[in-house]
This record gives sequence, structure tokens and C-alpha cells, in this order.
Amino acid sequence: MKNKIITIDGPAASGKEKISKYISSKWKFKHLDSGVLYRRLALILLEAKVNTNNVFEIKKKINQISTISYRKTKKIRTQRISQLASKIAIYSFVREYINKLQYNFVKKNKNKQGFVIDGRDIGSVVFKKADLKLYIEVKPEIRAKRRYKQLIDSGEKSIYPKILKEIKLRDKKDKQRKHSPLVIPKGAHIIDNNGSFRKTVKNITELLEKNLK
Ligand code: CDP
Repeated sequence: MKNKIITIDGPAASGKEKISKYISSKWKFKHLDSGVLYRRLALILLEAKVNTNNVFEIKKKINQISTISYRKTKKIRTQRISQLASKIAIYSFVREYINKLQYNFVKKNKNKQGFVIDGRDIGSVVFKKADLKLYIEVKPEIRAKRRYKQLIDSGEKSIYPKILKEIKLRDKKDKQRKHSPLVIPKGAHIIDNNGSFRKTVKNITELLEKNLK
């Protein structure tokens, strides 16, 4: 296997990160979570008090940033940052900026096996020619339950109906936006992640063994 690219797309809290991490550790693929980049940019804008209703202000700030960290910290997992990330993700100039960071990551981190990259538009736009594309499907109620538990476990205050509402709103925004909306990429395998992770892992293992020889 050499420099393969696996893309994982799906809605909020569908388990993309857990699945990516599993593939990354079992098959030694480098993992890139593109959502982290949108979240990091949202945090930069929030901390700099940029008016995110004003595209010129966002553009000005982006031009001043030298780089964005890939670090996953608790600070970028809050509901506020989830919403803000989704809000700024509608702009094509924001997406182009983040896509460039993803291409640089792949260029700089070449490794034998390849990459597993997750997000909303990875198989449909960013890495259209990927070797294997997965699309993760889970009902909103199950996703909200899992996200609720994740937030509580990490010490954040959380209310289930609020999480469900936020997830549905983010789904709507991500699917209806003009630039790179969340879609099932052409040629993607649909992974049903409503059940146990063990079942999902079994499906994925079979797919990877069959498709990545
Ligand atoms: O972890 P979760 O699925 O809740 O979200 P995430 O993957 O961290 O992404 C946060 C937000 O960034 C999403 O709701 C999208 O609006 C945006 N995003 C995007 O537009 N395109 C990507 N490739 C990744 C994230």
C-alpha cells in the first residue's frame, strides 16, 4: 500500500473522528480532521473579536494569520465554536484557505500508507480522486445522545434537547450551503454507524481489506 487517501464524510457527531482514529492506528494512516481547522479559525476570530457577520473583517483577519494549529483542545469543542465554525464554513474564501492547509498537510507529511481525512466535503471536493470514500450515516437522535455524553464526560454543561436542536440546525446549514455542501460523495460507500462500534469496525475492515490492496 502506498500513499493512499481515504476520505470520511458525514454529519455532525456521526463518529467520523472515532472511525478515522481506528483506521489511522490499525493501518498506520496519518489522520487529518478538517473540522479542527474550521474550529481553530472560528476560535481565532472569536478571540480577536472579529465581527463574523462582516466578510471583509473575516478576510482581513485571515490575511493576517500565518498558520493554523491542528491541535485538538477542549477550547475548540464547545457548542459556541461548533456553531461559529459552521457559520464561517459557508464562505468560499474560507473553504479555499482551509483546503490549502489540507493540501499542505498531505504534501508535508508524506508517509508510506497514506492519509485518512475526515470532514464534510473531503470526498466530494477536496480529495475527489481518493482511493476509498466513506460516508457515515447516523440518525440525529442517536448523534445527539452521543454528543451529549461526550460533552458531559469532558466536564461541559449540556442539555440533550438543546444538543439535538443544534445538531439539526448544523445539518441544515451544512447540507444547504452553496459552497461544498455536505453530500454523499460520488462513489462513496455508505457506513451505517447507528449500531455498535464493533459492527461498524467489522464493515470498515472488510471494505478496507477489499479495496486497498
Ligand atoms: O465534530 P463535528 O462533526 O461536530 O464537527 P466538525 O467535523 O469538527 O466540524 C465543525 C463544523 O465545521 C461543521 O459543522 C461544518 O460546518 C464545518 N466543516 C466543513 O464545513 N467542512 C469540513 N470539511 C469540516 C468541517
